[in-house]
Amino acid sequence: MPSASATPPSGESLHSGMLPADRCSPDAPAIDFGRYPIDQRGSPAYASLLEEARSSLKRDSCCRLPGFLTPSGIREVQAECAEPAKRARSNQVGRAVNCYYGDPDSSLPASHPHNHMFERQFGVIRDDMIAPGATLRAVYDNASLMRFVADVLGRDRIYQSRDAYQALTVNVMHDGDSLHWHFDCNACAITLGVQEPEAGGDLEFLPNIGRDNHADIEAVIHERADRPPSHAYRTEEGALIFFCGGESLHRVQTVRGERVRLVAALQYHHTDDAFDPPEMTERIYGVPVSEHLGPKAPADA
Ligand SMILES: [Fe+2]
Repeated sequence: MPSASATPPSGESLHSGMLPADRCSPDAPAIDFGRYPIDQRGSPAYASLLEEARSSLKRDSCCRLPGFLTPSGIREVQAECAEPAKRARSNQVGRAVNCYYGDPDSSLPASHPHNHMFERQFGVIRDDMIAPGATLRAVYDNASLMRFVADVLGRDRIYQSRDAYQALTVNVMHDGDSLHWHFDCNACAITLGVQEPEAGGDLEFLPNIGRDNHADIEAVIHERADRPPSHAYRTEEGALIFFCGGESLHRVQTVRGERVRLVAALQYHHTDDAFDPPEMTERIYGVPVSEHLGPKAPADA
């Protein structure tokens, strides 16, 4: 997913009621701190978890932490998403983008990755549709999680996206929906499985194919027989996943069945000024440039 920022034309919320601000505390955990002791930095258990995550990310271009959310946490987030997912259904349909979310280049052939446009066939619950008190936002805001993500990525500190639309999102995929081949705009995506579909919806990827490897990318997006091999994984409910999507071409395969696939994307960056230009927000989310809210205020403002 690209990184972006702005405010929605219609201020939809996940729910109207406020949830406890400490929803992610050890007393009412949405995060399984027992299985994943991210709140115990400096402990042997934290060091072991960190090493495992780093090794997996380096080896596989992804790291999956199943059961990161507790069963009650999963149920809460699913309940929060139920209504907005209906309103978000197919709200990306009618827009087309290339695998870089960039502009076409008329100096290149029509088959070139920069010129091959994909129709978007899914929906997105944007950041502005998620209430301040939502459990999902509490997970996104959790200081221990942010510290752990920074450690996994080898950063002194990370920051939330300042993009009012893109910082925290949930992809909504119904029967027949899919997400086209693309590269993410940030190097490592952090996603959270919310709800699994009955079938399909696996994330298929080519680890570290490289975003400038146009020959192989072209073979993949045109489904040629000589395309490099891909890998795939299922995004399990409650799993936290690190994925090197900035250099790994990937897509979500077609979802099948009545159960909606819901996967949240948590945008973190290593600078405190990450947001997409309004033109990209209009292209991706359909929010007119004239209605763009601009970047969010800094978290500690
Ligand atoms: Fe992506």
